[in-house]
Amino acid sequence: MADRYSQVVNAPLVGTIAKQLGLPQPVSLDRYSEGQPVVSGPVLYDGAPAGRLGKAVAGILDSIKAERAGAEGKAKALVFDATGIADSTELVELQRFFYPSIGRLQRSGRVVVLGTPPEEAGSIPAQIAQRALEGFTRSLGKEIGGKGSTAQLVYVEPGAEDQLESTLRFFLSPKSAYVSGQVVRVGKGVSAMPKIDWDKPLAGKIALVTGASRGIGAAIANTLARDGAEVVGLDIPQMSADLKAVTEAIGGRSIEIDITAHDAPEVIAAELSDGVDVVVHNAGVTKDRTLAKMPEERWAQLMEINLSSEERINDELLGKKLLNGNGRIVGVSSMAGIAGNNGQTNYAASKAGVIGMVEAMAPELAKRKATINAVAPGFIETQMTAAMPIGPREAGRRLSSLSQGGLPVDVAETIAWFASPASTGVNGNTVRVCGQSLLGA
Ligand SMILES: NC(=O)c1ccc[n+]([C@@H]2O[C@H](COP(=O)([O-])OP(=O)(O)OC[C@H]3O[C@@H](n4cnc5c(N)ncnc54)[C@H](O)[C@@H]3O)[C@@H](O)[C@H]2O)c1
Repeated sequence: MADRYSQVVNAPLVGTIAKQLGLPQPVSLDRYSEGQPVVSGPVLYDGAPAGRLGKAVAGILDSIKAERAGAEGKAKALVFDATGIADSTELVELQRFFYPSIGRLQRSGRVVVLGTPPEEAGSIPAQIAQRALEGFTRSLGKEIGGKGSTAQLVYVEPGAEDQLESTLRFFLSPKSAYVSGQVVRVGKGVSAMPKIDWDKPLAGKIALVTGASRGIGAAIANTLARDGAEVVGLDIPQMSADLKAVTEAIGGRSIEIDITAHDAPEVIAAELSDGVDVVVHNAGVTKDRTLAKMPEERWAQLMEINLSSEERINDELLGKKLLNGNGRIVGVSSMAGIAGNNGQTNYAASKAGVIGMVEAMAPELAKRKATINAVAPGFIETQMTAAMPIGPREAGRRLSSLSQGGLPVDVAETIAWFASPASTGVNGNTVRVCGQSLLGA
């Protein structure tokens, strides 16, 4: 779905002029539709000598029936195993692989660089070299974003080679259309890897989604239902009709309650008395004012909704042992929580707090054989962003490598990757869904 600016600058005559003026010309991004292959074109895969992921990647490419790219011709994805890079002189392996291949990458192409978490690289020179991969990948993302392509760095812990599949599938596929320049860590796995039906990974699972009646929450509910989950949508009683429309269309259930109500954790726990597999804390609000004009009430209401109530719900569900084995908690942070934003001290504090929640709880959840991660959306086309004044709205859209806003489904697909039972090695990550926005980059 192209916004108005994209339509205008890509129209035949105006397009030529826009190009001459150097204006961004956003391309239409590939997005996933059911039944599509993971990657719809040839994949070129190689690695630096002594890499440890060759077998794992080859197995995954076979499992998704990926066509392998030959010595020439176009490629839809480029995957490079950099785990063997042991010092800075060997970083030239990146240049050797990508220099001849990057021009072969098709529109909405995918680049995935695989590395070892620097602190586990085994020596100081290896640690330095592995850390260097981050600057490389983020820069490459900026260079290829104009064609709707993305680049990510996935650090795979030694011993976690068998945990890569859900993450590599996500980053190769159009499901990650609006995610770029991200650094993700895959660890050993909090529980045994279950058998997965990749078309319906959430079959038999129960997923709670707060703020499910519209916007990003509705997209999360729909996407988790597509993946097979029974969705329990939650929203405030005033949104009853919209909430029911969402949950009834996907055969789900509704909870009508304000998450800040004193009895909300108990009510939610009672509704989920048979256990819950995925908890998505999506409900959130903005109450913008510069700090000099921020009364306590405005601050406190927002913090209650965006952060404190989420902590109480977690405590209740974990205290009553209602989060099932291989369970998932997913937070919805924001780019503002990373970069900060004028007029959003309250919002940015709450959303940075969501990242804190992920960092603080990840070790504890791992002990319970569960994971916690968060998405940090950038500019997403919703009713909230449609109401912004035109200046900040256009800046929000264009100041990113992909030069356009994302869609609610882009956030939802990222959450579905975290939620997958196969993502048992993905714990403690905050992943931006922001088209590699320049803000807070
Ligand atoms: N739209 C964006 O560009 C963007 C960017 C970054 C982060 N986010 C975050 O994504 C999430 C969803 O955003 P959206 O754009 O879809 O917003 P939205 O306003 O369209 O939807 C939020 C939903 O949460 C519900 N909600 C609010 N307060 C609640 C409460 N106390 N109890 C229960 N439900 C409550 C609302 O009724 C609404 O249905 C929010 O956490 C938001 O901060 C959005």
